[in-house]
Amino acid sequence: MRKCQSWRLVKLLTVSAVLVLSAQILVGVLSKEQVKTSPLSEQEHRLLSPHSYQYVLNQPLCRYTSPFLLFLVPVAPQDNAAREAIRKTWGAPGQDTLTVFYMGVPEGGQGSSLQDKLEEESREHADIIQMNFLDSYQNLTIKTVMMMNWAATHCPRASYVMKVDSDIFVNVFHLLRWLRSCPRQAFITGSVINDGRPRRDIYSKWYVSEEEYPEDSFPPYVSGAGYVLSADLAARISWASRFVRMISMEDVYLGLCLRVLGVRPVYALSLPTLRNLFEIRDLEYDRCTFTKLLIVNGFKASKLLQHLGLNLFSAQRTQTSSTGCI
Ligand SMILES: *[C@@H]1O[C@H](CO)[C@@H](O)[C@H](O)[C@H]1NC(C)=O
Repeated sequence: MRKCQSWRLVKLLTVSAVLVLSAQILVGVLSKEQVKTSPLSEQEHRLLSPHSYQYVLNQPLCRYTSPFLLFLVPVAPQDNAAREAIRKTWGAPGQDTLTVFYMGVPEGGQGSSLQDKLEEESREHADIIQMNFLDSYQNLTIKTVMMMNWAATHCPRASYVMKVDSDIFVNVFHLLRWLRSCPRQAFITGSVINDGRPRRDIYSKWYVSEEEYPEDSFPPYVSGAGYVLSADLAARISWASRFVRMISMEDVYLGLCLRVLGVRPVYALSLPTLRNLFEIRDLEYDRCTFTKLLIVNGFKASKLLQHLGLNLFSAQRTQTSSTGCI
């Protein structure tokens, strides 16, 4: 329970930091109440509805046992190297964790040679979930909603779900210990972005037209690199998606669903330094720094494998690897 108290302290500090640091955010919170929600039209909903797509590959992975923490990794069909590296590092099967890879169909469709390879890989590892939407960058939002729906319907007894990109370092040991310190509901944490705005510059990679999103700011959301939610929220997000129009930035989309649900994403900060535990910048590997973080960005397959021996990935890691760190 002491850890719960320190968690409350984190929350308290977070709240005060937010209050003190930015009056702007407060304005955002106040104006948020005025947003009306109504269900999407049939046609708008169809693009994101779980009923619009069928499983090409699926696995009854939670039929007999449920993991404490389910990792959902969106990955492009051709990115076999990333899947291999994750299976050998933080995604290795553990007692408390389960890792599934989520994808749509490749460009060439279901008859392509890439699809044949995927089916072989799926037979070997039984960790690939695939639905029949086209796998593309712009369709990441579809993928995210489908992942939430999969978690809610196929793995409903997991305690936590983590959406994590395939180029991320995950400190499984620290993450599990941190999550176990306190049971939570309607909870989502990650690197919170409170002041996001749509880019109206047509040449920007993140251009959003006024037609697509008329408001001039985004509600708070968590960076898509990696975020953790209590499993109850996966079902509620999937439900909320029938009120939120498709926008191609999946993390913003999730924030819009959270607004419908009245759930605020929270920061995860370390004490006493108030460092963000979800590090979305790239950092050079440093054992002492990494022991204390939950995720770090910028770990492509080769870099993950290079650190294979360092043991920070494993839930069974011995306590000793943080010795010598301050
Ligand atoms: C997204 O997926 C849908 C369903 O497969 C497809 O019709 C659409 O073309 C895809 N959009 C993009 C931009 O790839």
